[in-house]
Amino acid sequence: VTIPTRLTERFDIKHPIVVASMTPASAGTLVSAVAAAGGLGLLGGGYVDRAWFEAESAKVTRLDVGAAFITWSIPDDPGLLDIALERHPRAMMLSFSNPGPYAARIKKAGAPLICQVHTLDHAFQAVDAGAEMVVAQGAEAGGHGLALRSTMPFVPSVVDALATRAPDVLVLAAGAITDGRSLAASLMLGADGVLMDTTFLATREARFPDAAKVKAMAASLWPPSHTGRIMRNDLVEKWSGYERKLEGVRTDEVGTIGRALQIDDVETANLIPTAGDLINRIVAEASRMLMKFTPTPGARPMADAERPFRLGSQQ
Ligand SMILES: Cc1cc2nc3c(=O)[nH]c(=O)nc-3n(C[C@H](O)[C@H](O)[C@H](O)COP(=O)(O)O)c2cc1C
Repeated sequence: VTIPTRLTERFDIKHPIVVASMTPASAGTLVSAVAAAGGLGLLGGGYVDRAWFEAESAKVTRLDVGAAFITWSIPDDPGLLDIALERHPRAMMLSFSNPGPYAARIKKAGAPLICQVHTLDHAFQAVDAGAEMVVAQGAEAGGHGLALRSTMPFVPSVVDALATRAPDVLVLAAGAITDGRSLAASLMLGADGVLMDTTFLATREARFPDAAKVKAMAASLWPPSHTGRIMRNDLVEKWSGYERKLEGVRTDEVGTIGRALQIDDVETANLIPTAGDLINRIVAEASRMLMKFTPTPGARPMADAERPFRLGSQQ
């Protein structure tokens, strides 16, 4: 299953999914796995940590990954941006301050510039600097942000503003995009794809402690009146009906699950997915959701002028 969009066409990738820049989890193994599964992975250069960047870029097994830096950190080691650019990254993402001072270097190196933006002014600043893609990040996003506007209203406002001012600039939605439904919703809001990060923390390839992955997978804001469904295994049998008691030993049991994961003991731990499995699951789900809205035979096709979103050139 594929969902072609301007992002997949422009970057010649299979799926409109970017996984990027989580410091330190978006390391070589994760971004390579994302690229192998048909997405775009950006190595998280974060706070220009040269040793980390050297070690992790050596683990990158594919030529089609990009890199990312926190813009205001670049002066701490300005040479690292050049080192990264010499490796011909698929794209270079800058976040959290004016990309202007670095845009020309990035463009000269032939890497498309991606900028993470949190306000419309940031979006205009990014396109004026020459960004080819902006990541419209809503307040729900993991990591740092401005927490000004939620993803749902912010993404279409960036899409609309750039449609006239910079129509060739791609827009990604970011912030609590967690599954196929939110990928489909993002495309309906007019985004060309999504940037998803927190969801990929709980994949086998993320550089993140297993116990923390288990915690992330189990994390829930659900009130006690709502149920959850997981695969039945020995651990589930052991604690079914004793959930209150489990609360008291939760930390110990998370440790037990972490150890079980390392030896693929599925009777104790429901397995953490690989990045590739996750991408395939998300895209298949999004595709099913989008198919629900294909026009009924005989329906009048929507005129371009009426179309609030752009899915791909075949649309
Ligand atoms: C653990 C973690 C570390 C992050 N580190 C960075 C970073 O170094 N640079 C950056 O631009 N964004 C960073 N982010 C933000 C992500 O790139 C992304 O924009 C955001 O997490 C998307 O929202 P989501 O987590 O809801 O998918 C980080 C996010 C997380 C969860």
